[in-house]
Amino acid sequence: MADDVSAAQAFYGRWARLYDLVATFPGVGSWREGAAQSLDLSAGDTVIEMGCGTGANFPYLRERVGPGGTVVGVDFTRGMLDRAATCVAREGWTNVHLVHGDATAPPVTGSVDAVLASFVVGMFTDPVRAVDGWLDLVRPGGHIALLDAARSTRPLARPLDAAFRLFVAASTPPATQLRYVNPPWELLDERVAAARRPLADRTADRTDETFGLGFVRLSSGRIVEPDG
Ligand SMILES: C[S@@+](CC[C@H](N)C(=O)[O-])C[C@H]1O[C@@H](n2cnc3c(N)ncnc32)[C@H](O)[C@@H]1O
Repeated sequence: MADDVSAAQAFYGRWARLYDLVATFPGVGSWREGAAQSLDLSAGDTVIEMGCGTGANFPYLRERVGPGGTVVGVDFTRGMLDRAATCVAREGWTNVHLVHGDATAPPVTGSVDAVLASFVVGMFTDPVRAVDGWLDLVRPGGHIALLDAARSTRPLARPLDAAFRLFVAASTPPATQLRYVNPPWELLDERVAAARRPLADRTADRTDETFGLGFVRLSSGRIVEPDG
């Protein structure tokens, strides 16, 4: 197993409980709501969330696909999935399924109506390849949405840039170091931008919006036929 994979699993396994609190913070819900809305889901649809963590997006997805639809959450960290499972059991959601696996090579066959990934692609060494693979899973006409944090370009956000960098350093496995060869906030920016390139090539009706003074980016698109 690659060092960065085991570091990420150890990090998220250790901090799952705290992560759950942050993930459901007031205000974050409106970003999640926006991401779920951009998937244009209908009752009965099947949606996969890649790197679902503790399941903070599940209520927004489930509300849209209804009891006859299906929500599948994929994550490679047991501690995060355990918390997601507790939430699923508490709510009595029989149509929300959890899969322990690698979101960059998801153990999924067939096509689905939508894929969501929130605060995940910045952790991938090759986000372009991962997102390309996700686009292969979605039926033509279905949707993909990526929700991510990255540095803001807005002048008003400048005073918060140092705080954002500290937050990224503290929340990037294996966690804060004194010196960086490649600062994690720069890597995050690069990966978040790279992950969006396959959407430009393979989706239509794209939307790009920002929240939280520009620190959070939501990008979505409708999958087109290869020649369409
Ligand atoms: C920052 S959390 C985001 C969780 C959730 N999507 C949310 O919005 O709250 C990142 C999650 O991605 C998972 N993850 C990272 N890389 C992964 C991979 N290659 N395969 C599966 N899960 C992965 C981690 O285990 C962690 O639960």
